[in-house]
Amino acid sequence: MKNLDRQGILEHFEDKAAAYIANAERRAAEPFCLAHIPTRHPERMADAAWWLIQNRGRPKTAIDFGCGTGRMVKFFEVLMGVDKYVGVEQVEATFRQAQSWYAAETFINLAIQDLNPDDLPFAAPADLGFTHGVLMHVPPENIADVCANIRRLSKIQMIVEMTRQTDPATGWAPHVFKHNYHSLFGAPVYKEWLTPNKRIFIFEG
Ligand SMILES: C[S@@+](CC[C@H](N)C(=O)[O-])C[C@H]1O[C@@H](n2cnc3c(N)ncnc32)[C@H](O)[C@@H]1O
Repeated sequence: MKNLDRQGILEHFEDKAAAYIANAERRAAEPFCLAHIPTRHPERMADAAWWLIQNRGRPKTAIDFGCGTGRMVKFFEVLMGVDKYVGVEQVEATFRQAQSWYAAETFINLAIQDLNPDDLPFAAPADLGFTHGVLMHVPPENIADVCANIRRLSKIQMIVEMTRQTDPATGWAPHVFKHNYHSLFGAPVYKEWLTPNKRIFIFEG
């Protein structure tokens, strides 16, 4: 892994990696739709995928930024019909688990902000850049670089973020940060969906 010292959250995720993998193992044993699409309000994810395909065409190439153990692979292949999926994950243990579960896919063990066009198995930018529950964990000092690189490497961005956290005082856990995605992506929002626990944006540009 490159430049791990730049990752304000890496320590947090290294600590959590074992628990996260155990949780993903449980999910992987569940039926398709539960294992591969977030269990709460999966229909909104399907709505967003459908809207994107109808309005912008089927993405042929996609990058799943902060892919974790790769549980969204089937979301891309089955719901979005992408030809080539690439998952990018900075935590080595999590990256290795993704590789072993989805051996046919390409995973890259890098921080999002360190990914370059040459690291990709297709010509950048990808048709679709995707994040699910990732940017909320990126600290303020890194968020501009992370979002700028996502924009550089993808034509359209589908950003899925949680809107509720567990800290009863603030509603946000200490390792979770609120960001202004409208200004960070600096592009028109084509569509935005709200569910009781998440927010889905589609940006272009
Ligand atoms: C809550 S998990 C979500 C994983 C996956 N997107 C999913 O929905 O199952 C957040 C993941 O993002 C990764 N991550 C966070 N910031 C990152 C960064 N700057 N570069 C690469 N990966 C990052 C973490 O290591 C972790 O695996």
